[in-house]
Amino acid sequence: MTASSAPGKIILFGEHAVVYERPALAAPVTQVHADVEVADSDRPGIWINAPDIDLHAELNSLPSDHPIASVIHNFLFLSRVPRSQPLSQREKGIRFPNLEIKIASTIPVASGLGSGAAVTVALLRALSSHLDHPMTDEEVNAFAYEIEKLHHGTPSGIDNTVVTYVKPVYFVKGQPIETLQVGKPFTIVIGDTGLPAPTKDSVGDVRKLWEADKEKWEGVFDKVGEIAKKAREAIESGEWKVLGELMDQNHALLQEMTVSSPELDRLVSAARNAGALGAKLSGGGRGGNMIALVEPEKAEAVASALISAGAKRTLTTTVT
Ligand code: MEV
Repeated sequence: MTASSAPGKIILFGEHAVVYERPALAAPVTQVHADVEVADSDRPGIWINAPDIDLHAELNSLPSDHPIASVIHNFLFLSRVPRSQPLSQREKGIRFPNLEIKIASTIPVASGLGSGAAVTVALLRALSSHLDHPMTDEEVNAFAYEIEKLHHGTPSGIDNTVVTYVKPVYFVKGQPIETLQVGKPFTIVIGDTGLPAPTKDSVGDVRKLWEADKEKWEGVFDKVGEIAKKAREAIESGEWKVLGELMDQNHALLQEMTVSSPELDRLVSAARNAGALGAKLSGGGRGGNMIALVEPEKAEAVASALISAGAKRTLTTTVT
């Protein structure tokens, strides 16, 4: 049996604008994770058990574009067949092993915490180690990016990158990964609206806005990109107060992009009123999670204010 795990993530700055090549910052959240176990099996086939999403099925009974099925199909295809063979022969030559795959996750689905990317990365690593086909981090990341496209058509690649490397990153689509140097660790309280909101929908809606008035939205994305650059400096120099103000500014621009919601706005205000240095939605928006930057001694007060304002749960994490 082989096991592998991958963390959740939060976007600190720059969601949505990052799809349009503006910089964004994100960090792993290791308190929540996807865990995958792969074991040899006596029964024929590849059996997938993912109780969190009520999935108990043999691989071939799933549609081929199902994100979990497509990770497995593509992995087997790439790993089992000599790369030198022409494609048609490769297909004939594939022999599927008999496997039992267990997938469990503490990352809520469609919450902006990167559950899809975490399942993909953990699954890939468990398969690659169980079937003795080593993959570098770069290969895992590139593979996971292709799968992200099935989750939501035009991903920037930030989710799979943070989840693969488990480091805070300064990310620009299509450019080499830059790790964030955190000058002074900072504390983030995450508040969950409990409302699932697929990233695909909000990303698609922002695209419609952009298509209808490119000049206007390019201007908004530029402002977000500037905020992300300033935030990087504030993180590197440990200026929390500035960082908090930048979060507030970023949230206002996300509201303009129509990706906030009354529930998210309520949690953001509650966090600020309870003493957070700044707060914003995190990830795709509409539902899912928001984040608040807090001085460590205020974390508990902010978390309980979030619960009183309707958060289904909170999580406190330190970005280092
Ligand atoms: C999702 O975590 C972040 C978005 O910017 C989408 C993406 O970057 O692919 C909303």
